Amino acid sequence: MAIRSLRSTLLWMLIPAVVVVAALSWWISRIELEDQVSAAFDRALAGALQSIAVNVSTESGGLAMEQPFYMLEFLEHATDSPVYFRVASEDGLSEIGYTQLPLPAFRLPENAQPVFYDAEYFGEPLRMAAMALGPSRLSAPLGSRIIIQVGETTEGREAFMHRVAMQWLRKDAAILLLFVLLISVGTILALRPLRETSENVLKRSSGNLLPIDESTLPREVRPLVEAINVHMERNATKAASQRQFLDDTSHQLRTPLSVLMMQVEYARTLAVTDEMKEVLAAIEQRLSNTIQLTNQMLALGRVHDAADQLRAGESLQTVDLCAIARDVVAELLGAARRKRQDFGLEVPDFPVNVQGIGWLIHQALSNMVENAIKYSPTQAHITVSVSLIGGEAVLQVDDDGPGMSEKDISLAGRRFRRGDAGKRVHSAGLGLAIVQTIADINHARLELESGDSRPGLVVRMVFPMS
Ligand SMILES: Nc1ncnc2c1ncn2[C@@H]1O[C@H](COP(=O)(O)OP(=O)(O)OP(=O)(O)O)[C@@H](O)[C@H]1O
Ligand SMILES: [Mg+2]
Repeated sequence: MAIRSLRSTLLWMLIPAVVVVAALSWWISRIELEDQVSAAFDRALAGALQSIAVNVSTESGGLAMEQPFYMLEFLEHATDSPVYFRVASEDGLSEIGYTQLPLPAFRLPENAQPVFYDAEYFGEPLRMAAMALGPSRLSAPLGSRIIIQVGETTEGREAFMHRVAMQWLRKDAAILLLFVLLISVGTILALRPLRETSENVLKRSSGNLLPIDESTLPREVRPLVEAINVHMERNATKAASQRQFLDDTSHQLRTPLSVLMMQVEYARTLAVTDEMKEVLAAIEQRLSNTIQLTNQMLALGRVHDAADQLRAGESLQTVDLCAIARDVVAELLGAARRKRQDFGLEVPDFPVNVQGIGWLIHQALSNMVENAIKYSPTQAHITVSVSLIGGEAVLQVDDDGPGMSEKDISLAGRRFRRGDAGKRVHSAGLGLAIVQTIADINHARLELESGDSRPGLVVRMVFPMS
């Protein structure tokens, strides 16, 4: 059987079980109640028999009786149902009271021993008590035993039983309801830590492989979480070693690539034919792209390392976005000038502080500005700005270059994904992936806007202000 949720399994098993147990207990109690009520009502009938017996006399030679009206009235009142009696000699010659009151199917025992039986009297069900008085119990011998019978209709005892049973039912139903409520609340409370933990795990960023905190979880599920943690640790180690391998490879490649670049540059000075110069220029271009790719891969590796350190407990610092913007603009001014681009900086004259890692934000802004310079034509306008909008700090680069298509924007940030503009030049497709990762680490949002009312692209990182 497929297991549904733990909660519904528990509730579906516990609640019906409690209901069945309660119903069973109520049914058993009802049977016991019937026995006890019957015994109590029968005792009252037996009492009536005794009080009639002391009033029976045979002294006159016949059967006489002083009728115990008070007692019969009391009995009727107590049992809340009509009471019938009959006193008669066993041979049926003398008879007082209600004639034809049915006798039991068996012979009555001696010694005035009361017996009880069910009978019917003019279509009415009766509970009867009867006893026989032998010669030793009679004031004068009569030649026959005297039979005394008392009967009452059963409606009184049944009504009483029903009343008590209903009281019990109401009480049991209230207790049952309380139980069901307690079970439901208990189950929800017991499973809440599990739900909270799964929500926390779902909220994690994809690279976060830190162990799940098991301290708040019920003891029963801890082994499972421990196993998942071990599994995640193995994955984290594997991912780290893969990344390390990539970092090492990029690092190892850097030196030979730089040496190759120098050799190609030197070879170009020695080239004599135009074909040779052309081939060497192409090689140099390829080499420069490969060096750019290696540098971007190293940068991505460093950004991931920073993310790991942050997850392992390192905290963010207060950084001034204006200072970072000034530094990046100063560093890339030369590149923009070479393309005769109008490169501007708009920052307020007060610091705009956010929580983050300064060198990472610097790296992200450099990538954003490098893109603007690279993809915008000569004499384009590029502006780096810092502003405060709606309680958030915005670090923005806008240009009036070719902009990006909607599809390119939706795929921006994927590794090795180059857009329309990127395909025209040689590029690695890693710049915005690095920016996106840095934005995540610094709890910022990356936004790209293009083509609505003006040419070009606006790229911004939006930081929450605490
Ligand atoms: N300012 C911009 N104007 C027009 N297109 C842009 C701009 N910035 C980015 N793009 C597009 O987005 C794509 C992805 O940019 P990203 O920086 O991630 O990679 P790249 O520039 O191609 O390579 P890399 O930066 O790693 O050398 C680019 O290929 C380009 O098509
Ligand atoms: Mg780029």
